[in-house]
Amino acid sequence: MEKIVVLDFGGQYNQLIARRVRECNVYCEIVPYDKAEEMLKNERPNGIIFTGGPNSVFSEASPHIYPEIFDLGIPILGICYGCQLMAYTLGGTVTTAPHSEYGKTETHYDKTSPLFSNILNMPDFAISWMSHTDYISEAPEGFRVTAHTENCPIAAMENPERKLYAVQFHPEVNHTEYGIAMIDSFVRNVCGCKGDWQMEGFIEKTVAEIRREVGDGNVVLGLSGGVDSSVAAALISRAIGKRLTCVFVDQGLMRKDEGDFVEETFTKLFDMNFVRINCQQEFYQKLKGVVDPEEKRHIIGEEFYRVFWNKIRENYATGYFAQGTIYPDRIESGKGDAAVIKTHHNQVKRPENIKFQGVIEPLKDLFKDEVRKVGDLLGIPKQLVWRQPFPGPGLGVRIIGDITEEKVKLLQEADAVLRDEMAKNGYEKELSQFFAVLPGIKTVGVMGDGRTYEQLVAIRAVTTDDFMTADWAKIPYDILGRVSNRIINEVDGINRVVYDITSKPPGTVEWE
Ligand code: XMP
Repeated sequence: MEKIVVLDFGGQYNQLIARRVRECNVYCEIVPYDKAEEMLKNERPNGIIFTGGPNSVFSEASPHIYPEIFDLGIPILGICYGCQLMAYTLGGTVTTAPHSEYGKTETHYDKTSPLFSNILNMPDFAISWMSHTDYISEAPEGFRVTAHTENCPIAAMENPERKLYAVQFHPEVNHTEYGIAMIDSFVRNVCGCKGDWQMEGFIEKTVAEIRREVGDGNVVLGLSGGVDSSVAAALISRAIGKRLTCVFVDQGLMRKDEGDFVEETFTKLFDMNFVRINCQQEFYQKLKGVVDPEEKRHIIGEEFYRVFWNKIRENYATGYFAQGTIYPDRIESGKGDAAVIKTHHNQVKRPENIKFQGVIEPLKDLFKDEVRKVGDLLGIPKQLVWRQPFPGPGLGVRIIGDITEEKVKLLQEADAVLRDEMAKNGYEKELSQFFAVLPGIKTVGVMGDGRTYEQLVAIRAVTTDDFMTADWAKIPYDILGRVSNRIINEVDGINRVVYDITSKPPGTVEWE
């Protein structure tokens, strides 16, 4: 299998580089820089990419690379810090730049370079995205300079005989014009990859691996009904059928009819042992009178933990444990200590006193869009595969103040109307997330000739690329009007609908 390895020197765009390579249909893995030597003793990837990083190469404490890596004959592309590291290790000069460069920078390219020569309509000058305080002032012997900017004399350099290439800018970010094509050039022209990595191949390979690992053993998986655990379930089911047990906890805080939908999907379409734990009342009981958002999150998390692990301890603690961890979960979980705005729990905590034979994470190397592709290929309904993110604590954080069964029902009904209207008007794909919120406020209204005093519902809809920031969605007034009319007419107990026009920041997507 063709493969490119991204050597991680601590840059912020490492995942993006890997995604770009995979978009060329070439499998790509990120490996810490200090594991490179060991890894390359055992395998020979088609190419290596050095990432950026926050350090200066001339500081002794900075990450360095063993020099023999450049003699293996494997094509290497250095990006930003990786570019400087290549220059430094091979005898060039790296110094603090007289002028740091940040952001969009006019760059001149020498289009005879194999990195730039096959790119359709690429001009001699184009914008690149720079972010550096050091620069290469002198290229190593045998290298020629193939790009420069006003303040950076060596914005790209290469030694084609040794298959070594380096760029000071970041081709992986969208702001670099033709950047993605440059990565494609490296992968295809320089590394000679054909680009035949397809999700079908991934499925076959993973199914075989699961069979090999599990043998004739059993696997238990916590199914939440979200994309990742659903795809993991379908994949493992393909490998071992009924020896997979999926445990699905219905805590009564899901969208309308969702528990039934998940159960129907996985019992009818897939071969597995499906266990549904109906513990709605227990959750409502535990949440009675609790209004503080973090306390609610805590209770929901703890209760889930208790119910889920009790079930597993009783019946399934002897085999393998599977979960739908995906690549970004693994990378993000290593991150530092940013301020806690709200506690998200994405990975299932495991009690120490349950010893499984092993842990299976079949999606651990995939990005979300790749997981969705696998889900489509495995025949999971689109409604599940393309579903929006849904918070772990569910409607619990969309009911402000205390949670009761009645409030859950009211919110589920209002939310179902909203979802129906969005789907009918083709807004499902355009919006990143939309939902109804029950703020727990009663307002006065008039219906027929009578006074009403009922609940208010808020509609929240956002567009975003990464959920770190988000814009409130500019849904046309007539559609909002229809949503409002329908909710008030169809949902008994609601007499007013408002639309949330707060972006993130300063708001968050969810209200709690
Ligand atoms: P916020 O509200 O933090 O939401 O702007 C960003 C994204 O995260 C989802 N979200 C959660 N997901 N557990 C989760 O798994 C949680 O506790 C949680 N809280 C918010 C939210 O729906 C949005 O997509």
